[in-house]
Amino acid sequence: MLKVLAFAGSLRKESYNHKLVSAAAETARASGDVEVMLVRLNDYEMPFMNEDLEGEKGLPENARRFRELIEKSDALLISSPEYNSSITGVLKNAIDWASRPPKNVWMGKPVMVLSASPGAFGASSSGFQTRQILLQLGAYVAPQKVACPHADEAFNEQGQLVNEFVQKNLKKMVPGFLEFAKKLN
Ligand SMILES: Cc1cc2nc3c(=O)[nH]c(=O)nc-3n(C[C@H](O)[C@H](O)[C@H](O)COP(=O)(O)O)c2cc1C
Repeated sequence: MLKVLAFAGSLRKESYNHKLVSAAAETARASGDVEVMLVRLNDYEMPFMNEDLEGEKGLPENARRFRELIEKSDALLISSPEYNSSITGVLKNAIDWASRPPKNVWMGKPVMVLSASPGAFGASSSGFQTRQILLQLGAYVAPQKVACPHADEAFNEQGQLVNEFVQKNLKKMVPGFLEFAKKLN
């Protein structure tokens, strides 16, 4: 059974990226023998990366817990919001903590990157940059990707995805990603 970890790079309660990655997690669960764990970075609040905190006492507790989650997963779904044409500080900080000694836990992990924004491009610049960072860290960044433009109109009051185009893309891309991840595992 493939263990998939899913999260978004936003701390916002009504985060569109959290809603999008939730929809991707649902699609993954529906497509078969996978176990999906959906988490929020709010539950792993980490200090800003500071090498002084990496000393003898070990990593900050939440950075350690977050790294462990990644290490134990076989594949990841990450939705990347866009701030000023780039990835959020929160997501970059979490990626950085998980890249540090004793082990870069991104190495060899299959990852599918999604992105959502109220804008017309669905945070695609941020998605592109997230893929680039993870590639540099040795993750197997999947060719499958999904961007959700006009995210302010893409979800209903219950937070469910109602944009048919994005729904169709998820149904096409997520099973393809799971196949990719299974082959690598
Ligand atoms: C500091 C800041 C900068 C932003 N810059 C962009 C941007 O460059 N492109 C974009 O599409 N949206 C931008 N936005 C709007 C975000 O896409 C929007 O706030 C979105 O809801 C954030 O994702 P979330 O809903 O998952 O928290 C920006 C928002 C903030 C707070």
